[in-house]
Amino acid sequence: MKILPRLVIGSLQPRYPIIQGGMAVKVSTGRLAGSVAREGGIGLIAGSGMTDEELRTEIRVARSIADGGIVGVNTLVAASRFIGVMKTAVDEGIDLLVAGAGFSRDLLALGRSAGVPVVPIVSSAKLAIMAESLGASAVIVEGREAGGHIGTTKSSRVLFPLVKEAVKIPVIIAGGIADRADLMEVLKFNIDGVQVGTRFAASVECNAALAFKQRYLQAKEGDVIKIHSPVGLPGNALMTPFYQRVSRGEVGVDHCDGCLKRCSHSFCIVEALLQAKEGNLDKGLVFAGEHVYKIKEILTVKEIFHLFFDGLEPRDETHA
Ligand SMILES: Cc1cc2nc3c(=O)[nH]c(=O)nc-3n(C[C@H](O)[C@H](O)[C@H](O)COP(=O)(O)O)c2cc1C
Repeated sequence: MKILPRLVIGSLQPRYPIIQGGMAVKVSTGRLAGSVAREGGIGLIAGSGMTDEELRTEIRVARSIADGGIVGVNTLVAASRFIGVMKTAVDEGIDLLVAGAGFSRDLLALGRSAGVPVVPIVSSAKLAIMAESLGASAVIVEGREAGGHIGTTKSSRVLFPLVKEAVKIPVIIAGGIADRADLMEVLKFNIDGVQVGTRFAASVECNAALAFKQRYLQAKEGDVIKIHSPVGLPGNALMTPFYQRVSRGEVGVDHCDGCLKRCSHSFCIVEALLQAKEGNLDKGLVFAGEHVYKIKEILTVKEIFHLFFDGLEPRDETHA
């Protein structure tokens, strides 16, 4: 029987070494995060694109489902309200904070003063070393396979060993883990845990519309394209009628509430992600990881845990 690594983030020790990645806008909400936490993983609510009130509600929903499991919040550093959202999460007694698409010293300072573990997403050993020196409890190494915004052209399998060698804090691998074979492949590295996004978006408990999840099921190998996000980063997504119009320069921005620190205004990313989540693919952008083609059915979170972990034993804490 294969033994799974034990993931320890500060004082947090999930039964299974898995984080369900934060997925904006409103793709990973309280229902999904709470369900993952209840199964023994770490569930993340995506705070980007939510009001403070919405975030508070989703954290409470997650807690009501989680049965004492671990719930965190992920927010994009690129969001104007980044620190405000994270402060709200701390105020609600969140277990951990994950920062995506950028690096934030302010968040590490907030985590230190509030006693809440902070886990930055990094795409290089240099950033991981900086995160560790500023008090990060762990880092997530995200490679070019990952759904959503990406900060590198390198595979997570190439980046991981470089980061693992550079820091002492736990290193979690993200990008391209969608089935059992993917998990077994990355377990060969000395990983502390995995972060999975796309596979969890195609779950019963994910609040995205059926049309969004069905777009995942239709995807074939090689279908994921690199889009140019107005955030200034590339992103992995599936082609939609909306993005075809963006590519032809036929989409503009009617109104703007300044939700990003910097934005090219080529299109409104929050609106496009929200439309996709609502199932309006003709107006929406469907973020998805490169291994989306491996997903053949919508499963419950419990079934996804079986798919990944059946027959794999979490390491006994007394033998760590
Ligand atoms: C629909 C979708 C939305 C995402 N939104 C965010 C986000 O708001 N913040 C973030 O840090 N990462 C985001 N990600 C990345 C995930 O948290 C995770 O790191 C990634 O999906 C892992 O790769 P995988 O999709 O191959 O499992 C998103 C991914 C998807 C598929």
